[in-house]
Amino acid sequence: MRSFGYRRGVLQAQGITLEALARRFGTPLYVYDFDAVGAAYAAYARAFAGREHRICFAVKANGNLALLRRLAGWGSGFDVVSGGELARVRRAGGAAGGGVFSGVGKTAAEMDQALAAGILLFQVESEPELELLAERAARRRRRARFGLRVNPDVAAATHPHIATGERGHKFGVAMEAAERLYLRSRRGAMGRWLEAEAIGFHIGSQILDPAPFALAARRVGELGAALERQGVKLRTFDAGGGLGIAYERGQRPPSLAAYARALGQGWAGARERRLLLEPGRSLVAAAGALLARVLYVKEQGKQTYVILDAGANDLLRPSLYGAYHEIAPLRRRAGRRRAVEVVGPLCETGDAFAHARPLPPLQAGDGVALLDAGAYGFALSSNYNARPRAAEVALEGGLTRLIRRREGTQDLWNGEVV
Ligand code: LLP
Repeated sequence: MRSFGYRRGVLQAQGITLEALARRFGTPLYVYDFDAVGAAYAAYARAFAGREHRICFAVKANGNLALLRRLAGWGSGFDVVSGGELARVRRAGGAAGGGVFSGVGKTAAEMDQALAAGILLFQVESEPELELLAERAARRRRRARFGLRVNPDVAAATHPHIATGERGHKFGVAMEAAERLYLRSRRGAMGRWLEAEAIGFHIGSQILDPAPFALAARRVGELGAALERQGVKLRTFDAGGGLGIAYERGQRPPSLAAYARALGQGWAGARERRLLLEPGRSLVAAAGALLARVLYVKEQGKQTYVILDAGANDLLRPSLYGAYHEIAPLRRRAGRRRAVEVVGPLCETGDAFAHARPLPPLQAGDGVALLDAGAYGFALSSNYNARPRAAEVALEGGLTRLIRRREGTQDLWNGEVV
């Protein structure tokens, strides 16, 4: 459920008007409704209450320390893909023991860091990675719990950049290879330092159909059952993340109940295992908005360009994936809607938030909100064109808190040497 709605013609969340926030903190500004994140987390916990499970928030979606701190407080674990993300979790007070370390390119130093922190689980994606993990574990004299991320060769209808579960993708270990690797991990030095804990998959992101989840769960579950017959007992079934949200009218993500049913299909033995979930987007996207102001309205040829003070460096998803984000004026505007181009200030034609978007008349100075920006919004932002990154604000119980100050000019060359 989106946090942002109109009341008496002004866009607000928790009774706080976004125009007031834009004035107080400036734009571009990320605003997050932490209460809505809490509700989304609680809904996950309820949907999976019937079985042992652990929710590991995918930090890559939004790594703000205050957000991670709240999630840890609600009992969330974390899915991290770098030493930096692990450090963030720990800085925010999250326990590494409730975390999964995923990713195709873990370095030896990152493995050492995660071993020292006592990570719950390494999600391993290749044979050489498994070898390196065994070596690092031996060197540190600490057993490493691992799972293989299996590539179930399942196609999911999503943007090609974020589909990950097909044979042709760089992710995971092929079904055929996985069995041999589990058996290998039990022999010799590997057997001494590695402990097979899990089997899992992650087939992509922004998936709106439960069927590919069910198919992946079934395929990977069958492999789990085959391994069990050979004496490899896996305590955890990691179903990754990927549940999509409705960015656009007409998009219908499965309910959490339907998602839980899809993941429960296949392997009967999976029900006896701890289910591990790695949601990112579905926990935080709808709870966040990027506020911006109209700098200029420019008529050129047949087009009307609404030029904002936020650009693709602040919110990359439309440029990178052609992603749709609803654009809502901070004050409701009367007048006929017209199809306009909503663009940013960057020196790239690709710096556009929307093409031919029907919007009410907007003028310079008007504020707008780009909705559903709580996931992969700030996280993908950059200093391109030497633009300081936006500030972030959290709304909680009707109170407002700055959770990241706006970058200043000095931040632009922090660490550089003349
Ligand atoms: N687990 C693993 C191993 C992942 O790679 C991901 C996301 C997740 C969990 C969380 O997936 P989610 O629940 O958020 O769908 N930048 C793109 C999304 C990239 C997703 C990468 N992996 C976007 O803005 O749409």
